[in-house]
Amino acid sequence: MVKICPLGAGNVGGPTMAVIALKCPAIEVVVVDISVARIVAWNSDVLPIYEPGLDDVTRGLGAGKAADLTYWESVARMIADVSKSDNIVVEKSTVPVKTAEAIEKILTHNSEGINFQILSNPEFLAEGIAMQDLFNPDRVLIGGCETPEGQKAIQALKEVYANWVPEDRIITTNLWSAELSKLAANAFLAQRISSVNAISALCEATGADVAEVAYAVGKDTRIGPKFLNATVGKDMLNLGCDVDVQHCFWQEVAILGFAFKKDAGDTRETAALDVCKGLLQDKASISIYDPQVTEDQIQRDLTMSKFDWDHPLHLQPTLVNQVTVTWDAYEATNRAHGVCILTEWGEFKQLDYKKIYDNMQKPAFLFDSWNVVDQEKLREIGFIGYSIGKPLDPWLKDMPAVAL
Ligand SMILES: NC(=O)c1ccc[n+]([C@@H]2O[C@H](COP(=O)([O-])OP(=O)(O)OC[C@H]3O[C@@H](n4cnc5c(N)ncnc54)[C@H](O)[C@@H]3O)[C@@H](O)[C@H]2O)c1
Repeated sequence: MVKICPLGAGNVGGPTMAVIALKCPAIEVVVVDISVARIVAWNSDVLPIYEPGLDDVTRGLGAGKAADLTYWESVARMIADVSKSDNIVVEKSTVPVKTAEAIEKILTHNSEGINFQILSNPEFLAEGIAMQDLFNPDRVLIGGCETPEGQKAIQALKEVYANWVPEDRIITTNLWSAELSKLAANAFLAQRISSVNAISALCEATGADVAEVAYAVGKDTRIGPKFLNATVGKDMLNLGCDVDVQHCFWQEVAILGFAFKKDAGDTRETAALDVCKGLLQDKASISIYDPQVTEDQIQRDLTMSKFDWDHPLHLQPTLVNQVTVTWDAYEATNRAHGVCILTEWGEFKQLDYKKIYDNMQKPAFLFDSWNVVDQEKLREIGFIGYSIGKPLDPWLKDMPAVAL
């Protein structure tokens, strides 16, 4: 029986293996992760990551076990240690080009008489729509050695995907093309976001509307409409903090949304972290509501270094007293001077903003970094509103922090 063993059951490994287990009943999938807590969660009813549709797929699938490893070199050494027969090692993480070569060296130097084929099969899923992306990917990319053994390994992995992905969407290349394609795709996507964010600043200065501009630009078939949404960057952070420092309106701030995007519980690289840290530095008290992110995660993100949360047993966060986390948007916004919408959760469109306004301190500010709300309606209620890439509220126009 073919056996697949993903090392790392996070936002990529968990959903990917759930889909492989569902679509390929002939393959045994055994999940391994350094984090015991993650494995315990995968085996429980409360999954360790939030991804729409994942719960339905994992229900009824089997159990996993945890390994005690820290870096990818150790992963390679562990594979060499435990391998008793020839193996295909699939690199799915986003790694520098030529990592496959380094992995191969570690494997061949640490095991005798066993042949390893290294494949690069970078993941292109987007969190929040990971299950859709996995069931219906734009493409699957498999890179391998150009030797007969390499081609055979490529074919073996291709057959796994062929259980549900049409053949014309499975691209096969050499190893380095596959590794580099993932980095190049990330760079192209980052450029689009940077470009539209730069345009949004121009929109605010000129009275143009970034949604209208992005729509008009995206209609060009050479450019296309996707990935042209402006969102929060450091500019927004400066705006909020400067308003706070110079005008003392922002002692109590409500944050709606802490995840880095909607329909995901992931907080890595979230803009909310920068905004919250800036506000805390300026001595604001913040009250946070996110439908998926727990208080424990938020406190860890605010106090610990990147990746430390992978070692929860010996590193506990020191609680930040100025921060409260609630599971209720109305509670978070109660008595606030300003509200910042920092994740594009659909439910933020449905909130009763009149009720929120009535319970806030005045003047009541609402800063929308994802263009979730209708600023016109909010202004009618009485809010002083800021929406990214939209013409500025007259009240904000002359503020020094907003001047470009
Ligand atoms: N998240 C995305 O949207 C996305 C998309 C495409 C590619 N990627 C790439 O995929 C890779 C994984 O990303 P992710 O979002 O799943 O990360 P993640 O942090 O959600 O998951 C990684 C998991 O690996 C585990 N782990 C770490 N070292 C281990 C080891 N030595 N042995 C076993 N388990 C170990 C961690 O405990 C964690 O559970 C990264 O290289 C990332 O850049 C991510």
